[in-house]
Amino acid sequence: MEHNISKNILITGGAGFIGSHVVRRFVSEYENYQVFNLDALTYAGNLENLKDIEDADNYTFIKGDITDTDFVNKLFSKHHFDGVIHLAAESHVDRSITDPLSFVRTNVFGTVNLLNASLGLFRNNPGFVFYHISTDEVYGSLGSHGFFKESTAYAPNSPYSASKASSDHFVRAYGETYGLPFVISNCSNNYGPNQFPEKLVPLFINNIIQKKPLPVYGDGNYTRDWLFVKDHARAIDLVFHQGKKGETYNIGGFNEWKNIELTQLLCRLMDKKLDRQASTSAKLISFVKDRPGHDLRYAIDASKINKELGWEPSVTFEEGLELTIEWYFDNKEWLDHVTSGDYLEYYKKQYQA
Ligand code: NAD
Ligand code: DAU
Repeated sequence: MEHNISKNILITGGAGFIGSHVVRRFVSEYENYQVFNLDALTYAGNLENLKDIEDADNYTFIKGDITDTDFVNKLFSKHHFDGVIHLAAESHVDRSITDPLSFVRTNVFGTVNLLNASLGLFRNNPGFVFYHISTDEVYGSLGSHGFFKESTAYAPNSPYSASKASSDHFVRAYGETYGLPFVISNCSNNYGPNQFPEKLVPLFINNIIQKKPLPVYGDGNYTRDWLFVKDHARAIDLVFHQGKKGETYNIGGFNEWKNIELTQLLCRLMDKKLDRQASTSAKLISFVKDRPGHDLRYAIDASKINKELGWEPSVTFEEGLELTIEWYFDNKEWLDHVTSGDYLEYYKKQYQA
């Protein structure tokens, strides 16, 4: 997609963790774009994530739900978007185990609503693209060897990953059936500023600050590939502008860690930051009941996006974690706001604490 022509770009889920980094990037890099951020502001959406850009001339926030068909159709008729970057989703695996239907509603039904509304636009606009932001979890679990490639068969194991796999399939089906121009990317675990403290990294940073137990599921020998969120936002920018229509790109950090080793690294970095004696935080580690259907290992082969679009991660894991820890220390008010109210109920239920 040309980026020096004025365009209306819709970003869904832009008040969430990854979405807010994507919105900020597009608003600041592309002055000639009008960036619309559509977000329902669920527990995971937070306008405090976008305070620094909320008054920008090329930014508009729209509160709305992608599962509301009439609302979505009217919005698309009004603004004639030139491109959609779709991130809005229920994103937390543990919540999908206790409430799968809300994942079907938002991730499947909501995505199909956006696809239907896009059909009215792309026929009059040859440059239109629907970009679906997806996850490596659609590929299921790896053993101790191998990598997920774009050609790996889908084998989702959690209600979350099943809902994301389903929405990927719908996007591709709309490409085949109606000719909708699309791209999809499947990314590994993100970490960084603004992440809601239900996910491993911010949950453990917050618990270390509070001197609360660090609940490691099972034996902690589960492996994830970690990517700094700003590197993901840069990859999304590249795929949106230069990705080939109808293609999938895998995005990952070339950075695999067992959960227990990542937890120990976080403990060391936090002890340093908090001026606590070495090994203080590691004493908080507590092995708890495993997640049902827990995928053993994810590992992305990101060579396609590297070769075709020249993308690679820009920070090492240790640098990224230090930036992340710094952000949580500089934004204690943000952390206080999101860890009050409903969060306390969620925490009690999830961790029997
Ligand atoms: P998040 O949970 O932090 O944010 C999701 C956002 O979507 C929130 O702002 C929420 O208010 C909004 N939303 C939820 N339901 C909505 C609805 N019905 N209508 C409108 N808005 C709604 O999620 P995230 O971690 O930033 O993930 C963003 C996207 O990236 C998701 O599609 C997720 O599947 C995908 N992804 C995430 C990761 C990761 O590690 N977090 C990795 C790969 C892919
Ligand atoms: O791989 C990409 C996916 O990464 C995204 O699609 C999801 O939206 C995102 O939530 C993330 O899923 P995970 O389930 O891998 O992330 P989470 O932070 O929940 O867990 C990371 C690992 O840590 C996983 O193996 C489970 C484990 N874990 C998690 C929590 C919250 C624990 O051991 N204890 C915990 O308390």
